[in-house]
Amino acid sequence: MVNRRDRLMNSSAHKFPIAVLVSGNGSNLQAIIGAIESGRLDAEIRVAISSSSSAYALERCKKHGINSAVHDQKAYASKEEFETAIVQTIIESGAKLICLAGFMKVLSDAFVNKFSGFIMNIHPSLLPSFKGLHAQRQALEYGAKVSGCTIHFVNENLDGGPIILQVPVPILPDDTEETLSSRILREEHKLYPAAIQLFARGKLKIEGRKVLIS
Ligand code: GAR
Repeated sequence: MVNRRDRLMNSSAHKFPIAVLVSGNGSNLQAIIGAIESGRLDAEIRVAISSSSSAYALERCKKHGINSAVHDQKAYASKEEFETAIVQTIIESGAKLICLAGFMKVLSDAFVNKFSGFIMNIHPSLLPSFKGLHAQRQALEYGAKVSGCTIHFVNENLDGGPIILQVPVPILPDDTEETLSSRILREEHKLYPAAIQLFARGKLKIEGRKVLIS
């Protein structure tokens, strides 16, 4: 007979350990937390690492009892030391996947190569369009009729790694940066948990530029 405690221990034993890196609001972090708490994502956030001590994402961690750490680049003598601190926190946490969720720092080639194939990022456009900062503003200024969001593996090229999942989002004639961002965010919040679940289940395989989903 399996009692409730055994069931809980058993279920936590199957939870895929992840680290989430954030810099600001953390609504994607919240979506991942929500998916885990509702049983849609078999993962466990071992640690959330923020590049800013004032990120609202840290409040979300407190509310949900999630282990968090702050590594602010300004507190370190060099970018190398900053990244070494992040690497140490990730390794100590036992995470097997690093999820960048609104993490607004560009990671060095050394960092990316160390975890090659184990770092995901979410970007608020249909890559390869509108890479870098203010992707929503770029789409509006370009006059695009459609934008969207992309989950991709991180490589040495900014927003240039193999694409895992994408969803298009229409751009409406009276859109502002805010209205477009919030319409894209609604899709981001569904897409990130789905991509992590695919990874956790071993369903993603990188072949060159392509990510095969089994
Ligand atoms: C999201 O829209 C995410 O796609 C974007 O920052 C926002 C973070 O929101 N990321 C980038 O632009 C990375 N280049 P959140 O803090 O509420 O999750």
